[in-house]
Amino acid sequence: MPSLTYAVIAVALLGAACNRSRATSDDPYKVHLIPTSGAPLLPPPSAANSKLPPATYTVAQAARGKTVYESTCAHCHPAGQQSGASFATAWDQRPVFDLYSIVRNTMPQDKPGSLSDRQYIDVVAYMLQMNAMPASTVALRTDSAALKQMKISVGAAQ
Ligand code: HEC
Repeated sequence: MPSLTYAVIAVALLGAACNRSRATSDDPYKVHLIPTSGAPLLPPPSAANSKLPPATYTVAQAARGKTVYESTCAHCHPAGQQSGASFATAWDQRPVFDLYSIVRNTMPQDKPGSLSDRQYIDVVAYMLQMNAMPASTVALRTDSAALKQMKISVGAAQ
């Protein structure tokens, strides 16, 4: 699809996001991803992202993240909502920073920012594992610059 088409879609999606009653002035992103609608409300991922290497995380991180997810996230996010096709539609080929920053700054929705940085990065690692990204010996780190240089690549062992 030509980039102009992407721009038009992005503007349309952002417009839709602004009309949602849930959009609030303290939203650092000025956009909301609304999974229940089935459509991601972020602009489509940039084609430049495809050059980024897939994000890495360790098995130990994902195991810690699973504990966090089950105790802190799962009661609002039913099984399957953060994995499979709906997750792929929203997140595949985006820098992992996009996911980390949304989770870090807006979740858990009833108490944003209430977890430690380590818990946040661990829970993101678990979300990568849930979406069939392979574990590695290289941990995912809470380093914004590094997180912008690796992408979510759902189900990819590349
Ligand atoms: C109190 C309920 C609640 C809790 C707890 C909660 N969430 Fe959410 N989450 C939501 C709602 C509601 C949305 C949709 C936000 C919107 O539309 O503005 C959302 C959106 C999201 C999104 C972006 C949309 C998507 O699904 O791709 C992610 C990612 C996410 N949550 C992850 C988490 C993680 C990880 C945790 C645990 C640390 C968590 N949430 C805890 C209610 C919750």
